[in-house]
Amino acid sequence: MKNKNIKNDIILKVLNGQRVDRPPVWMMRQAGRFLPGYRKLRSEFSFFERCQNPNLVSKITIMPINDIKTDAAIIFSDILVIPLAMGMNVSMIPDFGPKLDSINKKEDIDKFIIPDVNKKLNYVFEGIKQTITDLENKVPLIGFAGSPWTVFCYMIQGSGSKDFSKAKEFCLNYPNYSKKLLELITITTIDYMRGQIKSGIDIFQLFDSWGGILSKKDYLKFSFPYIKMIIDQCNIPNILFAKGCWHSLREINKLKTNAIGIDWLIEPKYARNILGYDRVVQGNLDPSYLLSSKSKIKKLTLDMINEFGSKNYIVNLGHGILPNTPVENAKTFIKTVKGYS
Ligand code: CP3
Repeated sequence: MKNKNIKNDIILKVLNGQRVDRPPVWMMRQAGRFLPGYRKLRSEFSFFERCQNPNLVSKITIMPINDIKTDAAIIFSDILVIPLAMGMNVSMIPDFGPKLDSINKKEDIDKFIIPDVNKKLNYVFEGIKQTITDLENKVPLIGFAGSPWTVFCYMIQGSGSKDFSKAKEFCLNYPNYSKKLLELITITTIDYMRGQIKSGIDIFQLFDSWGGILSKKDYLKFSFPYIKMIIDQCNIPNILFAKGCWHSLREINKLKTNAIGIDWLIEPKYARNILGYDRVVQGNLDPSYLLSSKSKIKKLTLDMINEFGSKNYIVNLGHGILPNTPVENAKTFIKTVKGYS
């Protein structure tokens, strides 16, 4: 893997602290969701069928590289393959989102096992290998996982939620059982990350999508320590996406991560004040801006780059691209960054 000769490796250069002429750009959730080619596949295969078929994984992963020309590909999969591998039933219900087995008592935690990821998640590894073959070294491939806290939220809540109050209630009522489950998820995620690295990913991103629903005290107890364990074990360039975690940026800045992803509620200047100009930062355009006009998208994107500074910076959205984003608008966003000088 070390000898890969990637044609466009600008994002790897930035993650390794090298200078580049313009910031690299990609979009969280670029694989699937908004592209018409993906929407067509949706009517033919269920969500996990799409995730478990290496040819479909490769096809969906490469779509935004061909159609939108982002500087990196992100493997098509989901953070919820972890609960699936740990023995939970998980289904993706159209127009509703994920639905998981319900957990009603603390003893329900006892049934979870640390899976053999090489067996249970082999389909992800095969999808990565197929993608690398088909990608022909055009751009680096990003692998990912959810942070243990974010995965825990779905496992306890049983679905998506605005506040994940059932997950929080579980932490308050059963702190020891919560710790046990967070540890199980962490161990599984480290094995899973290692499997992805062995399969050839170039970059690893950890999505802490729901760290921001916790108070600082709870964040430092239920999310941060487990993120640290994973980052400490990661031996390739990595990015931590820390949505809503503005209160803990100082602590996050001490992690051995190559880049910190932030959402649009954090102002670029505020982030730079705390993280410094040497730290690689990724983000943070409000995804809804891509629903506006081309000229507005251009201006908002250029303003953002100027505010972050074009060095040690990866352009991205502050969260996933919205499913109703017009393809032309996503292209405008990418083109604007590529034309930055
Ligand atoms: O970035 C990428 O494009 C790679 C693929 C990817 C998916 N999910 C595919 C997907 C990634 C990185 C994820 C991560 C993910 N999944 C997160 C963390 C990032 C975030 O957005 O906060 C979370 C919280 C999930 C859980 C999840 N998966 C939800 C809540 C949903 C339903 C809502 C939605 O996003 O559409 C999913 C389904 C899902 N995962 C889809 C895709 C393309 C849509 C499924 C469909 O085709 O109907």
